[in-house]
Order: sequence, then C-alpha cells, then structure tokens
Amino acid sequence: MSGRVFLAMPGNERMSTTLAERSGAESETIEMRRFPDREAYVRIAGDVKAKSVDLVCTLANPDPQLLSLIFAAETLRELGATSVNLIAPYLAYMRQDARFKSGEAVSSLHFAKMLSQHFDSLTTVDPHLHRRRDLTEIFSIPTRIVHAAPLLADWIAAHVASPLIVGPDTESEQWAAEIAATANAPHVVMQKVRRGDREVRIRAPDLGQWRAFTPVLVDDLVSSGGTMIEAVGEISRQGFTKPYCVVVHPLFAEASYATLQTLTARVASADTVMHPSNEITVAGLLAVAT
Ligand code: R5P
Repeated sequence: MSGRVFLAMPGNERMSTTLAERSGAESETIEMRRFPDREAYVRIAGDVKAKSVDLVCTLANPDPQLLSLIFAAETLRELGATSVNLIAPYLAYMRQDARFKSGEAVSSLHFAKMLSQHFDSLTTVDPHLHRRRDLTEIFSIPTRIVHAAPLLADWIAAHVASPLIVGPDTESEQWAAEIAATANAPHVVMQKVRRGDREVRIRAPDLGQWRAFTPVLVDDLVSSGGTMIEAVGEISRQGFTKPYCVVVHPLFAEASYATLQTLTARVASADTVMHPSNEITVAGLLAVAT
C-alpha cells in the first residue's frame, strides 16, 4: 500500500484523482456537509495514519472554503498523517499585496500566514506575484510554483495562425513575453489604470504594424472581466477582428464569461479552476512538481 494519499476537497475530485493516478498514489474524498445552521461538518473516512497527505483544493472561493480546509488539515494530523501538503492550483488573495489606502488589510500576507500555520508545504500554479517577488516572502512553509505559460503557448501555437500575444497591463508582461518566446510570436503590452473593483482604463500602443497578425490576449486571471473586456475594446477600436482570450485562472465573476464569449473569437483557460472554458490541463505539471 502506498505511503501517499491525495485527498480532494469538494469540487476537486477530478484533479485529485488525476494527480494520484500520475503519482501512483491512492485518492480519497473528504466527507463534507453543512449543518442546518451552516456550520461545516468534515470527516476523513480513509486511513491516513503514517501517510503523507496531499490535500487538493483550488481556492477560487476562499471565504466559504477556508474553515473546512483547516478542519480537514488539523483532523489529518490528529489521525496520524506524517505530513499535510496543500495543492491549490489557484491561490486566492494574492492581489491585495500592499496597503493602498490607510487601514486596509494586506490580505495576501494574512492568507499566507494562515495557510502556513496549517500545512507543511504549498504547491500552486502561477500565483499573482506583483509587488512580491516570491511566495517565500510571505509563506513560512516550503512552496512550489508551477508555470502554465508553456502550456498556454502550446495551445496558442496549435489553435491560432500568426498570433500576436497581447498583455493587457504591465503586470502581464511576464506571461506575455514568455508565451510569445515559446510560441515564436511577437508580443505587445498595454497600459492599465485601475479605477475600481470592476473599472479599469486601458491604453494600447499603435498596433498598426501587426495588422497581419491575430491578437491573443493573455493574462494570469480574469476576475471581474473588466481588464479583458476593456483590452478587447482597445483591439477592436484599432480595426482588428475579434481577438482570442487565453488565461491561466478562469474566475470569471458575474456575467464576464458570457460577455467575453460575444466579444472574442474564443476564450480558453487552464483547469486550475473548473470552468466551461477549460482547454488546457495543468495536471501533468502539478504531478511532476509534487
Ligand atoms: C492584475 O493585474 C491581474 O493580472 C489581472 O489583470 C486582473 O486581476 C484581472 O482582474 P479583472 O478581471 O477584475 O479586471
């Protein structure tokens, strides 16, 4: 019997099973429900004594997920797991990484501190690192980062003829440049000013010299969709046909996915968060990393 077991938090069964299969380990699910008053019930039914446990939980909806996740991690330790490691293909709360207005919570710091208290290690895919250079600046446990850029580049090379890789803001330059280099395509980056949770202002450089190319917007994540929708508008204003939109983390709040479907040639994403746009799987990279 294997000394390693993958455990899926609800909604993560497919990724957990795939990772377990690729690693030759066992895979189990956690029994979880809500009491009538909405408090969480968590039960680990399988035997985890003396086993190393990888808890799989993408954190796209962190507030309702966090307490159950902590209860699961603590229960695993009480039941004798030798280590409890978190695999979170999407790591939430990384964008509030500074106190932009006085009194604001720097939630990336608090979230990292909380997870560090309950897990032995963290593996994630392309966390949003902007003002922080590395997760080690905020996590006190070992962290592993998987980069999805090569997978996005492969998808673009296979689906788009003569792509022009477009980053909607300077923060996306890291992904745009790497994807462009791998896909052997040119890239440009737009300038963004954020005015509110949903509202951004984007200015594109003159794209006239790239008229023979197909624009492909790439970013680490779509949340409200404000960034992508505004970037698509800038591309359309310059007379291009509908661009492609390829992202790592498909959060797509509210009606943003439906809106982008009408404005773009195609929306594709990695499966760090389960979503109808998933066309790229990160399971292989995660299996190697863990
Ligand atoms: C921030 O710079 C990120 O890379 C994304 O561009 C941003 O978080 C997307 O957020 P939204 O979809 O709400 O504009």
